[in-house]
Amino acid sequence: MKKKIKAISAKALVLTFGIGTLFSCVSDKDSPGLEWMPDMYRSPAIETYVDYGYVKERTDVEKTMKQSAKHPPMNTIPYYGKVEDLEMMLPYHRQVASSAPVTHGLQAKHGWKISEELNGDYEVAAEDKNPIVLTEENQKAIFDQGKKLFKINCVHCHGEKGDGKGPMVESGAYLGVPDFANLKELADGQKFYSIYYGKGMMGAHAPLLKNKEIWTIVHHINKLQSKDYGVGNVTEEEVSDSTSVEIAEQQ
Ligand code: HEC
Repeated sequence: MKKKIKAISAKALVLTFGIGTLFSCVSDKDSPGLEWMPDMYRSPAIETYVDYGYVKERTDVEKTMKQSAKHPPMNTIPYYGKVEDLEMMLPYHRQVASSAPVTHGLQAKHGWKISEELNGDYEVAAEDKNPIVLTEENQKAIFDQGKKLFKINCVHCHGEKGDGKGPMVESGAYLGVPDFANLKELADGQKFYSIYYGKGMMGAHAPLLKNKEIWTIVHHINKLQSKDYGVGNVTEEEVSDSTSVEIAEQQ
């Protein structure tokens, strides 16, 4: 009996060792060899913009159709920043046009404030003043920052000069982008409103930009519309091309 157990355990030992050796040997010296249950060491990363419908040669069509990146819950506000910026972090109080659920996908069930009016609060938004007040000291940094944000988020449609001739328009992919030179009468509050909620073919930027960033861009648009915009005598040259001002610095 004892002999039998010994023989079995010896066989088991050889087998285990043999299998172990087999699985650990692969020709690529950078490869860890064959892995048992690789998910144990390499958990599938849950990240934004990843298509979870496709996992290791398996395609789950239903999941492929689902959005992996979601908007943050409505009215989420950052918990950092300066006290004087607090008001800008609070949820925007203006209501969006009644058509927005259809035209811009902004649903009341997600917390968007939908008006019963066709134009929403667009007209009254003209009363809203830019809470970022320009001074001689801060304006250069604000213009630089606005230019930078505009470059990242808007130039592909609106063009660097704001003439409505961005690469997407030039390529023929997009139509109806206005020249800011023709919108000089547009109040700051309405610019904010349209950027925040979107307008016509332009999508809503509220999920992409903080209110403070939108107001900063509004200053930049004003600068594009009028070279003299700003405190004192600001010439175009004084507003540098530098994009070195970090976003963090403004927050
Ligand atoms: C996909 C293209 C596209 C992008 C990106 C885009 N816009 Fe627009 N924008 C448009 C179009 C089209 C209109 C005209 C909307 C209308 O009047 O029907 C418009 C209109 C505007 C207006 C005028 C709104 C009004 O009330 O008349 C402003 C201001 C504006 N955009 C600013 C911005 C800013 C700032 C950004 C970046 C944060 C931006 N846009 C990004 C296409 C775009």
